[in-house]
Amino acid sequence: MSVEKCVLAYSGGLDTSAIVPWLLERGHEVHAVLVDVGQDEDLQAGCAKALRLGAETAVVRDAKPDMFARVIPQAIALGATYEGVYRLGTALARPFIALQQVGRARELGGATLVHGATGKGNDQVRFEFAYRSLSPEYPVLAPWKSWQFGGRQDLIAYLRSQGIEDDFAVEKNFSLDENLWHLSVEGGVLEDPNAEVDVQQVLGTVADRFAGDHASDASAKSVQIEFSHGVPVRMDGQSIELPDLIGQLNGRFRHAPWAWDLVIENRFTGVKSRGLYINPAAKLLHVAVDALARSCLNKPTYDQYCDLGRAFASMLYRGEYFSQQRLVLDASAAAVMKRLNGAVTVQLDPLPYVSWLDADDAMFREDLATFEKSDFSHQDAKGFINLSWLSRIGRPFVEGGHADAMETGTDAAPGIREDESVPDGGLVSSSA
Ligand code: ARG
Repeated sequence: MSVEKCVLAYSGGLDTSAIVPWLLERGHEVHAVLVDVGQDEDLQAGCAKALRLGAETAVVRDAKPDMFARVIPQAIALGATYEGVYRLGTALARPFIALQQVGRARELGGATLVHGATGKGNDQVRFEFAYRSLSPEYPVLAPWKSWQFGGRQDLIAYLRSQGIEDDFAVEKNFSLDENLWHLSVEGGVLEDPNAEVDVQQVLGTVADRFAGDHASDASAKSVQIEFSHGVPVRMDGQSIELPDLIGQLNGRFRHAPWAWDLVIENRFTGVKSRGLYINPAAKLLHVAVDALARSCLNKPTYDQYCDLGRAFASMLYRGEYFSQQRLVLDASAAAVMKRLNGAVTVQLDPLPYVSWLDADDAMFREDLATFEKSDFSHQDAKGFINLSWLSRIGRPFVEGGHADAMETGTDAAPGIREDESVPDGGLVSSSA
């Protein structure tokens, strides 16, 4: 295997563009891979740019089929969100970029794997965990951990010194990452949570991104999504493939007032940061699927469904896709997804909410829920409370450290009438 060959996950952006001449200066041969993860960019133009910068080869590889087969269905069905808000766009794509990179290295008979992530963030971990899982035999090079540059301005100056002028205007201010699931904006005025940020102004800077083939149109008042096994199969009554559905929702609603989240985030490395995520399809689908899960799963299973979504999101966030844990989570996801079938109507004004749904497996029972008269026996609830209290609390508890009731041996807590004092009430039969 030649260690001179480097396979670079090339995005066309500032960092990976600076890496190409930097590697050449060190005598390496650069093979750029532009991985299509659904970013709204001209990847052939990216190849041409890599070649202009001196790459030996530059190829486009499509990771979308893998993403749609292996991770997007679960991310939708489990409502996968990290720390309750971030819907994981970048984290979903990184393992599949690494997978394509490793494939390219194998085609070349082996190579060093190179990425452009810094030493501060999550992406380095995601790339390097994936490399280690998939191809522990290949060396890894992360220029941010060894080069002399301190930040983005240094990179721009370096590229200029190499005679490379480019339009890094937006990248001067922000670090962007776009794929079929989201557009993330970090850095610059967003970074410090103590500083007030004008979100509309930031949105204006990136307004022409993330459009796909769809004109922005937030005029629709509602959308109906039909799910089969947790995955959308119809929109407003029409069959639609998942990639089209996500593309349409993101394109149409990218300027909707609810399309974005401003998130203070705890990175895996411990660094705190603030970022803006534009992800209308994910938000709308998560609202819809959650209503379905609430309706079709019994209470303990719904609790477990929430835990599963959190675990799945954390696993992806930490870059542990190619792992045993993911296989276990996938199996659990498949079991729960079977239950998520039905049509959900989401209203979009002012924020997405579910106004009604129609699901075969819905567990709602009017006779149980109604405030009106039904066959429900209120009597049964007495025993339910007696036994639940016994197993959960079991003794009188007095706030404020004055355990009067316990010390005096009184059964009843203060304020409870004698006939309502219940520690043992109803548990011991009067004949005993
Ligand atoms: N903070 C997000 C994450 O860790 C987004 C990262 C975006 N990456 C980037 N290189 N701009 O998933």
